[in-house]
Amino acid sequence: MMRAINLILIVAFVLLLGWGGMAGAFHSDIYEPRVPAELLEELQDMDNPYPATPERIETGRKIYFGKGECVTCHSENGKGKKLPGHSPRNFTDPKWQEIRTDGEIMWVLRNGSAGTEMPVRVGKVISEEEGWSVIHFIRTFIH
Ligand code: HEC
Repeated sequence: MMRAINLILIVAFVLLLGWGGMAGAFHSDIYEPRVPAELLEELQDMDNPYPATPERIETGRKIYFGKGECVTCHSENGKGKKLPGHSPRNFTDPKWQEIRTDGEIMWVLRNGSAGTEMPVRVGKVISEEEGWSVIHFIRTFIH
């Protein structure tokens, strides 16, 4: 009888560990999309409506270091500061830059990233157009 109870406890414990690990993995994989699954396709098809001119990249740079406050978490070199909890995205990672589209980033700027420190930016501290400009700027961390 005791052995059966022990066995049940062990199985329950292992299941709990597995479940906890999966919940943690959701946001620990930096390449996983941050947008709702039903919007993913539409957002991946969305183009930045503004061309990446030197003037617009410069505007984006000013927003990154200024009123967008991006630099406070993502740092001067785009690699991201060490924060408790989720690390800010490292913009110098070429793989992340390649798989993440401008439309998906705009969604995160509008909505933040749930369960992390990434705050709402567009509609709060910067406009939609400024959001598209700062996206052009963060692309320059790998160029
Ligand atoms: C208070 C800290 C903080 C500020 C300010 C901040 N971020 Fe973030 N950002 C984060 C964190 C933390 C993450 C990681 C979130 C995650 O893994 O889902 C993140 C993730 C991101 C991502 C990755 C989203 C993805 O789909 O992978 C982008 C792009 C981004 N931030 C852009 C910006 C821009 C642009 C600004 C300024 C307008 C900004 N962030 C301001 C903390 C911040």
